Amino acid sequence: MRVTVVTLFPELFGTFAEVSFVGRARTQGTLVLETKNPRDHGLGKHKSVDDTPYGGGSGMVMRVDVLTAALEAVDAAAAAPAHRVLLTPQGAPFSQSSAKALSEKEHVVLVCGRYEGFDERVRSFVHEEISLGDFVMTGGEVAAMAIIESTVRLLKGVLGNPESTHEESHQGSLLEYSQYTRPAEFRGLGVPDVLKEGHHLKIAAHRKSEREERTQARRPDLYARYLQTKPPEKPKKAKRPNKAQAAKKGDE
Ligand SMILES: C[S@@+](CC[C@H](N)C(=O)[O-])C[C@H]1O[C@@H](n2cnc3c(N)ncnc32)[C@H](O)[C@@H]1O
Repeated sequence: MRVTVVTLFPELFGTFAEVSFVGRARTQGTLVLETKNPRDHGLGKHKSVDDTPYGGGSGMVMRVDVLTAALEAVDAAAAAPAHRVLLTPQGAPFSQSSAKALSEKEHVVLVCGRYEGFDERVRSFVHEEISLGDFVMTGGEVAAMAIIESTVRLLKGVLGNPESTHEESHQGSLLEYSQYTRPAEFRGLGVPDVLKEGHHLKIAAHRKSEREERTQARRPDLYARYLQTKPPEKPKKAKRPNKAQAAKKGDE
């Protein structure tokens, strides 16, 4: 997968690109991460990328001609047109399913705004708009990093154990179960006995009911969705009486 971040601050991505899973994915060749500075296409002596808003108002707005030139330069340098994503607090809320959808694209371009955001017409040159959440940051770079991290860990071969994403929070409708490691006792806080007994079926049942309970308590919205998709429980078979019970019943 190739990811190009259109940003006025490419230096922010230096260490980010080197460490942990993003670094590993780059070393493996699973991920190509690059930046494109719209300033390369800025206007005039100062390479301006922004201007004052028509109609007045506070702050500056990123220019459509400069950003479009940057996007077209990215496509011109690639084998095929990329999937363009505008990062904006007005976009669709980012989620695990958006990360999954992006991880299936060949080439994604993440466009980071600054100042008061973008000239409205920039929206005509992207495929989708994504928001990291209902809050406003000063730029799109942190949103781009969050999107890259959550997307890259879904790429084949990036996580040591691909199983580890299967029961993770937000992979389906349930949150993950609680996890413990040594020490078994810390300041009066213990570990549930079932996890220490090594009985795999009991552990699986404990974790399943824990996922349901904590999702219901913490995220009733997700739990309601889970109930809608959960297959109906099989009715338990009535136990056949053993010989002694049957004989006793006969005596009655
Ligand atoms: C100060 S914000 C501009 C906000 C804009 N004036 C508005 O009210 O919609 C500057 C840039 O930061 C980025 N940004 C801020 N909050 C964001 C969020 N929640 N999700 C994604 N990007 C965000 C966007 O790229 C945005 O263009």
